[in-house]
Amino acid sequence: MASIRALSIGKKLMKPKKLPVIQAFTSASTLASSEKRMKTFSVYRWNPEKDGDKPRMQDYEVDLDSCGPMVLDALIKIKNEIDPTLTFRRSCREGICGSCAMNIGGKNTLACISRIDDTSNKKEKIYPLPHMYVIKDLVPDMTHFYEQYRSIKPYLMRKDDLEEGKEQLLQSVEDRTKLDGLYECILCACCTTSCPSYWWHGDKYLGPAVLMQAYRWMIDSRDHYQNERLAMLDNHHSVYPCKTIMNCTMTCPKGLNPGEAVGKIKTMMASYEKPKEAAI
Ligand code: SF4
Ligand code: SF4
Ligand code: FES
Repeated sequence: MASIRALSIGKKLMKPKKLPVIQAFTSASTLASSEKRMKTFSVYRWNPEKDGDKPRMQDYEVDLDSCGPMVLDALIKIKNEIDPTLTFRRSCREGICGSCAMNIGGKNTLACISRIDDTSNKKEKIYPLPHMYVIKDLVPDMTHFYEQYRSIKPYLMRKDDLEEGKEQLLQSVEDRTKLDGLYECILCACCTTSCPSYWWHGDKYLGPAVLMQAYRWMIDSRDHYQNERLAMLDNHHSVYPCKTIMNCTMTCPKGLNPGEAVGKIKTMMASYEKPKEAAI
């Protein structure tokens, strides 16, 4: 009887006489289950290893009350509980490794730091990063992207011989500060795959992520090859296809500004001293 009274607090009091206690609790639990917060995720599926398989969208219903808050949580729940064949990359689940980059609700971003929109009952559409070859489901082929990254020599290069066992590459606080907003890039490729110039000329155009890293090494006070690095990119296709559309900056999940870095390379290129030996 006491339990029934407790359930009635704040509501119009009803005579509990005809309602056994057990039935009152059953009703409450039925109410809870009928109010489940369900969300539909519509996910791109394609398995090239399966004969005749064609790309398609597959819908999954996820109970948000038993799911973490991020889109990656939903994908992991789908894989664990509904469909183990769903394939996607992930590792750190905190926006550091860049491996869960995909297109969610029309925007390139990281699934692990994208909150599920639980305010609307619209389907959440999830595709792999656009304009990339797909290996399977949400897994894009990053081979060409990494080859382009390798091509800009993303490491410190010196013209002097350093003495072994002694720290010599000191950097002033001001010079170190110049690298802020550049070194944080996690090479997720969200920016590059949102760039229309890269969609059409990605075979030769390096794209915003790789160019921002090229710029990062150009302006590092400890590096001796700024002019050679500029000469390496001084051609029609490496940098100039950028039309300053700025999709790259708008989509970066780390809040970086690769579009600005590309612009700065163009400015440096207008006045640098061409080295006699451009090859590095
Ligand atoms: S600049 Fe941003 S979007 Fe582009 S690769 Fe780096 S972290 Fe990803
Ligand atoms: S600013 Fe340049 S690199 Fe960035 S999206 Fe536009 S064209 Fe691509
Ligand atoms: S899992 Fe590492 S960035 Fe998302």
